[in-house]
Amino acid sequence: MEILKVENLRKEYGEGNSKVIALDGVNLEIERGEFVAIVGPSGSGKSTLLHIIGGVDSPDDGKVYIDGNDISKYSSKELAYFRRRKVGLIYQFYNLIPNLTVRHNIELPLKLDKGKTNQDEFSDIVKKLGIESKLNSFPSELSGGQQQRVAIARSLIYSPSLVLADEPTGNLDRENSREIIEILKYFNRTLKQTIIVITHDESIALEAERVITIVDGKIVGDENNE
Ligand SMILES: Nc1ncnc2c1ncn2[C@@H]1O[C@H](COP(=O)(O)OP(=O)(O)OP(=O)(O)O)[C@@H](O)[C@H]1O
Ligand SMILES: [Mg+2]
Repeated sequence: MEILKVENLRKEYGEGNSKVIALDGVNLEIERGEFVAIVGPSGSGKSTLLHIIGGVDSPDDGKVYIDGNDISKYSSKELAYFRRRKVGLIYQFYNLIPNLTVRHNIELPLKLDKGKTNQDEFSDIVKKLGIESKLNSFPSELSGGQQQRVAIARSLIYSPSLVLADEPTGNLDRENSREIIEILKYFNRTLKQTIIVITHDESIALEAERVITIVDGKIVGDENNE
């Protein structure tokens, strides 16, 4: 079964003259283990789509099924649980908690569930991301690339089956961007995680197996890269 199925998703913002149709009937299926890029002009609805898939925003109409479950049926408690465990969200501006150390930022999703850190998994992730020496630092003491690695570690701590990244390299230079994408590809290969990345960077889109193009809230292209 596909890991993600989106049916006729619609989302509007505002009213009257200021009404914006952010999503205008989006249908989409993504199989487990795919690495998908979403591209399209600014304001075309990419972030809106990702936020709805990740359960941080809700649609006006339509359905999102993750692993066959309709996430609109979740209670707020189930949704919070879903957001922490099933999906990993990565943003352009990292969204780290400034007064927590790197270690505590990464462990935050576990702590919110009163869970214990699996030290082996934790070590594997931070080693792969190259941030072992920064665990006791605070986010402000890190470079942008390092902060993004911490945000990725946090999103991976529950080994989510679906990783959603909204312009994860939007703030990084070319070298760091390439490394972040290599890391995402590594986890895609080794952990069979499904990864959806919004990007404006054509070279990143070319790294994906599949590229979906959104214009004016509609999918206008869906192609497999060679
Ligand atoms: N909270 C909101 N309130 C009002 N309008 C919104 C809100 N969020 C998004 N929009 C509008 O919905 C449309 C789609 O926005 P969205 O953020 O999904 O675009 P995007 O494709 O991610 O653009 P970008 O590439 O610039 O990030 C835009 O016209 C935007 O102005
Ligand atoms: Mg956006």
